[in-house]
Amino acid sequence: MTSGWGWFVVVLVLANVAGAMWLLFAHSHAPAGEAGGETTGHVWDGDLRDANRPLPRWWFWLFVLSTAWGLFYLILYPGLGGFPGVLRWSQEAQHAAEVRDATERQAPRYARFAGMTLVDLSREADAMGEARSLYANNCAGCHGSDARGAVGFPDLTDAEWLYGQEPDTLVATISEGRMGVMPGWEAALGADGVAQLVAFLQSLEGADVDAATATAGRDHYALFCVACHGVDARGNAALGGPDLTNGIWLHGGDAASLRVSIAAGRQNQMPPHGDLLGPDRVRLLAAYVLGLGAGAGDGRAARGN
Ligand code: HEC
Ligand code: HEC
Repeated sequence: MTSGWGWFVVVLVLANVAGAMWLLFAHSHAPAGEAGGETTGHVWDGDLRDANRPLPRWWFWLFVLSTAWGLFYLILYPGLGGFPGVLRWSQEAQHAAEVRDATERQAPRYARFAGMTLVDLSREADAMGEARSLYANNCAGCHGSDARGAVGFPDLTDAEWLYGQEPDTLVATISEGRMGVMPGWEAALGADGVAQLVAFLQSLEGADVDAATATAGRDHYALFCVACHGVDARGNAALGGPDLTNGIWLHGGDAASLRVSIAAGRQNQMPPHGDLLGPDRVRLLAAYVLGLGAGAGDGRAARGN
């Protein structure tokens, strides 16, 4: 707050408090003369009169006390314009102190976790209890509470890994995020070329498609797709190119979805979580993801290339 506005607020607040006090005191005495106070002059139903009585004493003093408390508070804590209060309390400082305390309290636990491999960590009940709630708060929104994903969001429990499930890879994925970029091919290959590629991919899954069309698709594949999806179409973890042979589809495996994936391309982002969670929690989550697959570290991510 600029100091001009700060002073304006100070004057406004104090003038309001003074005004409220004046109102309170000005009306705190019974009008002189009558013991029970005079009436306002309104009469209902012939004999009901509206008496003009002062506030009960206890109520009056409650107002005075709460006003005094309010002023006292404004001296101690920020609230009056730019004046920080004599205690110099601030939300940021309190938050920073609480985070510091919590980090110090947890340091011994995390020190123990830091000495363990991710595979061991994934079998440690205490660590995984915490990881489960970290997952629920940070990951379930996209990957699902059961981690089975949804269209566009990978299933973290199945056998396919875009980038791999090696411990270091998982840590990097969660910490730095990932960006899967599949270019669109309609402009280069036309609708026919795309249809031939769809037929080729379906033939890989054993579907009954026209052989000549699928062969034409295979030729396109060899020219345009191997770099990112591998010679045998089993994926390329370095680029996040998915396995196109295993029946697991991120964006849908029906002909229409495949056509969209190939014709228009796909762009898919996993946001980075390293700054938000810090390295200790990222490790816990990586171990959690590792443990989601049945046999941790069984090398399911190994691919032909
Ligand atoms: C905003 C949505 C979003 C959130 C939140 C999110 N993810 Fe992801 N995640 C994705 C997307 C989308 C991908 C796929 C990226 C791609 O296609 O290249 C992905 C990919 C991954 C992968 C790689 C999977 C593979 O097959 O290689 C892992 C592991 C992962 N996420 C774990 C997590 C964890 C753990 C969290 C919580 C800290 C998390 N994600 C939070 C959207 C999200
Ligand atoms: C530059 C690298 C690159 C090239 C070249 C490329 N792709 Fe992809 N493709 C990707 C990536 C990365 C993804 C995953 C996108 C994501 O993360 O959502 C993908 C996804 C796909 C998908 C969706 C897979 C699923 O699980 O839903 C299909 C189908 C596909 N590609 C087919 C092809 C075909 C056919 C070609 C050749 C015409 C091709 N791609 C060329 C990188 C590439």
